[in-house]
Amino acid sequence: MIDLSTEISGVTFKNPVIAGSATPTWDAARMKRCIEGGASGAIAKSLFGDSAATGRKYPRPRFKLFNYREYPGYPQVLPNSFTLHSLEECSSFGYEKYMKDINQTKDLVKDDGVVIASLSGASHEEWKMMCEMVNETNADWVELNNSCPFSADMGVKIGAGAVGLTRDFIHTCSQIIKKPFSVKLTPQTSDTISLVKMAKEEGASAINLSARLSGIMIDIESAAPVGWGSIGGYGGPYLLGYGLRMVFQSAKEVDLPIIGGLGVWKWQDIISYIMAGATLVQTAAAVMIQGFDVMGKWNRSIETWMEAKGYKSIKDIRGIALKNIKKTSEIERDYQGIDFNINYDLCTACGVCKKSCMYEAIKITKVGAVINKNLCDRCGMCYEVCPERAVSIKRY
Ligand SMILES: Cc1cc2nc3c(=O)[nH]c(=O)nc-3n(C[C@H](O)[C@H](O)[C@H](O)COP(=O)(O)O)c2cc1C
Repeated sequence: MIDLSTEISGVTFKNPVIAGSATPTWDAARMKRCIEGGASGAIAKSLFGDSAATGRKYPRPRFKLFNYREYPGYPQVLPNSFTLHSLEECSSFGYEKYMKDINQTKDLVKDDGVVIASLSGASHEEWKMMCEMVNETNADWVELNNSCPFSADMGVKIGAGAVGLTRDFIHTCSQIIKKPFSVKLTPQTSDTISLVKMAKEEGASAINLSARLSGIMIDIESAAPVGWGSIGGYGGPYLLGYGLRMVFQSAKEVDLPIIGGLGVWKWQDIISYIMAGATLVQTAAAVMIQGFDVMGKWNRSIETWMEAKGYKSIKDIRGIALKNIKKTSEIERDYQGIDFNINYDLCTACGVCKKSCMYEAIKITKVGAVINKNLCDRCGMCYEVCPERAVSIKRY
């Protein structure tokens, strides 16, 4: 029997997958669907203070997918990489309705899942008020959302627009909150580690490193932004490596449970995050596109994979990649001992490798591509681009 459960600050999560604060956690009914769909917990859509009430209304439409439907084989085959661009800042609820909805969520979910309220204030007064109100609810956990990518553009000091205020805000909240709390940090800062250390010093139970970036897409025909006309949340599966980097660096430096999760699109991504040191992994875009049940499907795949590998519990895989991650200064840089060869049964002489060889080491002949070993830098680009997989790597 595989044990997928995890405990943080006395709160048990029955598996490592939680639904991130986003459209799928918009209200109590949807939070319940997240838990029924397989999540061990759900982070409610963030409540913003009144000064950022602009964010409680959304443009319509507010979602834009780039490089999605164009993928060959869609919808039977889902693309591995695309961009979800969106403008949906916070919960559409005001303070009272939000707190009622959190209680209603707990009534619906009961002990089947962890109910997490998410707050984001723009002043000490707003943070204080929201923390005091959330203390009175049945939420199991509170997230302090300091990651909003739109705040500066909205003219309020929240999240990515107020990284410098993070410590003060966390300090204010930590004095009031009577529940375990996580701090969600923006990836749009150069010093994540200092912020993680700060959250630990202020008594956070966990850190959430899954927030998205802000971005904009330009339509060159109209010279205008695609979509609603301003920046928006910007992310997709290609940000997996960015999220993993933040997680492993924090896991190496700070002993604090990490909620990772930027760019999760398939079950293997969850395992990657756990191996990089995450305790929980959250997901938003994948649920919005693949549906609530995808979280349960992932958990079953994770169980099957763990069983095949002989792992018994999540603890067995947490952080096991950390010992294998080196500093760039420690990387072996001697390229002797490696060669690239062409398999002429596969090569069609298409010339793709030649175009990408910056060392002019490849010639296209009648028999196919020929690599000049004296000019070849062993950089590996020809191997990566070859559509026929005709280039092989030989180590000696
Ligand atoms: C449409 C949408 C709305 C979101 N709203 C919130 C929010 O209200 N509060 C929050 O903390 N994060 C919000 N997020 C960020 C997600 O919780 C999550 O951190 C991010 O999307 C990265 O995970 P993903 O790659 O699985 O989508 C939102 C994301 C999306 C796509």
